[in-house]
Amino acid sequence: MISSSKVRQQFIDFFKSKEHHFVRSSPVFPIDDPTLLFTNAGMNQFKPIFLDQEKPKYNRVANSQKCIRASGKHNDLEEVGVDNYHHTFFEMLGNWSFGNYYKNESIKWAWELLTEVWKLDKSKLWVSIYKDDDETGEIWKQITDVDPNRILKFDKKENFWEMGETGPCGPCTEIHYYTGNDPQNQDSKGVNVLPEYREIWNLVFIQYNRKLDQSLENLPATHVDTGMGLERITAIINGYESNYDTDLFQPIIKAVEKISGKSIQFEDGIPHRVIADHLRMISFSIADGIMPGNEGRGYVVRRILRRALKFGRSLGLNNPFLHLLVDGLVEQMKDAFPEIYEKQSHVKKVILAEEKSFNRTLDKGLEIFENICNTLDGNIISGEDAFKLYDTYGFPLDLTELLAREKDLSVDISLFNKCMEQQRTRAREAGKFGVKVNENQWVQIEGLNKSNFIGYSENSSVSRIIKYRINKNESEIVLNNTPFYSESGGQVGDKGKIYNNDFSFNVLNTQKLGDDIIHYGRFINGKLLDDFTVTAEIDLSLRQSTEHNHTATHLLHKALKTNLGDHVNQAGSLVSPEKLRFDLTHYEQISKNDLMMIEKDVNSIILQNIKLNILETSFDSARKDGAEALFGEKYGDLVRVVDVPGYSKELCGGTHVSRTGDIGLFKIISESSLASGIRRIEAVTGKNAIDRVVINEQILDEISSVLNTSNDKVIIHIGDLKNKIKFLEKELNRINKKNQVELISDLMRNAIEINENKLIFSMVENISDLKEFGIQVLDKCVKKTAILLGLKLNNKPLVFCGVTPDLIGKIHAGNIVRELGSRMGGGGGGKPNLATAGGKDLNLLDDTLEFGKNKLIELLK
Ligand code: SER
Repeated sequence: MISSSKVRQQFIDFFKSKEHHFVRSSPVFPIDDPTLLFTNAGMNQFKPIFLDQEKPKYNRVANSQKCIRASGKHNDLEEVGVDNYHHTFFEMLGNWSFGNYYKNESIKWAWELLTEVWKLDKSKLWVSIYKDDDETGEIWKQITDVDPNRILKFDKKENFWEMGETGPCGPCTEIHYYTGNDPQNQDSKGVNVLPEYREIWNLVFIQYNRKLDQSLENLPATHVDTGMGLERITAIINGYESNYDTDLFQPIIKAVEKISGKSIQFEDGIPHRVIADHLRMISFSIADGIMPGNEGRGYVVRRILRRALKFGRSLGLNNPFLHLLVDGLVEQMKDAFPEIYEKQSHVKKVILAEEKSFNRTLDKGLEIFENICNTLDGNIISGEDAFKLYDTYGFPLDLTELLAREKDLSVDISLFNKCMEQQRTRAREAGKFGVKVNENQWVQIEGLNKSNFIGYSENSSVSRIIKYRINKNESEIVLNNTPFYSESGGQVGDKGKIYNNDFSFNVLNTQKLGDDIIHYGRFINGKLLDDFTVTAEIDLSLRQSTEHNHTATHLLHKALKTNLGDHVNQAGSLVSPEKLRFDLTHYEQISKNDLMMIEKDVNSIILQNIKLNILETSFDSARKDGAEALFGEKYGDLVRVVDVPGYSKELCGGTHVSRTGDIGLFKIISESSLASGIRRIEAVTGKNAIDRVVINEQILDEISSVLNTSNDKVIIHIGDLKNKIKFLEKELNRINKKNQVELISDLMRNAIEINENKLIFSMVENISDLKEFGIQVLDKCVKKTAILLGLKLNNKPLVFCGVTPDLIGKIHAGNIVRELGSRMGGGGGGKPNLATAGGKDLNLLDDTLEFGKNKLIELLK
């Protein structure tokens, strides 16, 4: 057997020998691509290079990329576990050429690796090419010994690869391998149709950009982007029929068999495979910083997690079990992906918390699901019901569909989607996952392709405009050098001005797109003529406030770890001039006392006025040095380390104060829950913190003056007041009770006699609970009495009706009040002997009571 680690290494070594540079896998979600929820191919992190927005550092690279295909254009969820070669999470081995080699070399090397290094049987290999790409067919024939009859043409669907709705794309050639049991009878018709003809390697010749309007734009250079699933190729090299037979899955599947006591034979092994697959997707997502939740990526992770739990139930695993499988996964993957080892305990805790919370709602939800099925007219579950299951019981749609399929039912998805629309508005996060349509033409002034950030040391610069574009609302300017920081790592983009003698441009935000630092804003005076030399000036006071908050964020991160424990990880942050926001993984409310200690620690570092040390070094040496790397950041080979010597060390590209004393003061203003297992802290620094303290002091002064006491005695005073209120409430209660006793006697004395019966009828006042009062009255009546009371409470009309047991045959209190309630625009009901009703319109109470009285008189006669 050859292990998956060895296959991975052989791939990388092979391409290193062809002068490729190894790059780390990027996280499972793209940091700065709003068009994608998850990394779905190895090429994602190179998208800006293909689009000519960024210059490559190396023009040949290779790696094994963590990919997720569980949403969007490339989504394999339904196949997972049912077949044995699709996955939600997989590793994509890839080699890339950025404007360097093209079709010849990529085809030659692919063939060499498969047939010479891995020695795959040539008589089982097939090649597919794009129908219009004869050139690629010729190359296959000329430089490899593939049987020409095994080169097949396919159309766009099969052989034109696109990463998403927009973005880099091009024709591709794919290599397929016959895995069936009858090699003598292979047939070209099976390729791209039958599962035994397995696609193993895709070589894409990137040459276009698909635009929003769906047109194709030629890219300035041609590139190669290849991708091969590690799981599939490992299975094939080993002669396994299933990816799940490889060492990537076997330890997990064995563990599932062990804890469930159900062998892989049970239900064809589908639950085992689904769980093993989903565990990898969930664990790597959480390790990269995604938290299960109700929106975006977090929602997809939660869905997959719940799907795994549902399959666990079919194995009888009703208690939390998924987190127990994490250790085995980590053991298998930690050498290739150290992040999974570093976040191991975090991943387990998050999964366990999700398992517990889901189990709580699942039983209830399943019950509701059964009810829905039992009362179903036909075989379609309505969209509203599916939405109710989603909204109230946390059933993702695909879980409902899965349960429905088991009963041969289907779900009305279009109505479900309608119901989801409102929820989605939130998930869209103010357009974060919508693509900004801004396709006015850039006006290019200089050929330069890269703008330089000089704002670590400069606040203003004399710069040249490289390009600009005028839009209706916000125009955009790119400079050769700029002191403006572009939003990243949680720190907001700088504001300020760009101007010369012709115009003044108000910069409202700064963002980075590829290598471009774009200043967004408006022309406020004059306009851009032919002088492209400008002064660029950031709003220094805003920048400084942001820096106070940014450095304070690092100090807070460290103080949280010290006071709460090592499980604390940063799950997100926002650093603006006004305040800082820090989301952290922590499983309960942070106590007031802990918050105080955290605040105190941060302020003590501020007081020590420590000089920051900021340096650039290699990623590996920074990590060895113990620098904190944030979840999901995309780091180059050179990283920036922000060191507060003796206290905190983080990888960070943001701007910071030069000494901690600059921050002035740090004040936490709120602590709240953001999602299960995530808390959010907001804090202010510098002038904002001082203002806050001053305002608090003023409020305290006012309270003291109202209470006519001094600040230090306020608490005692309030304590006294509370005691006094308690005493007075008791007194009031006593007096009310006494009054009620008298009121009841009055009511009984004034009862109307009808034949041998009595009717107690009245409007009452000063009663806080009409039903309770009515029952007291009823208790006092021995026999042959009916009671009808009315009350106006909180601007609403209420009625009470009660009868002694001997009158129940004659009068049904519940029916009486139901009628009275509906006359007042409301409703009510109760038992035959006592009932209450409420209405909406106060003015109807008198007439309604009168009506009730007459009705009772009739009945009592
Ligand atoms: N981007 C192509 C794919 O995902 C090749 O890597 O198939």
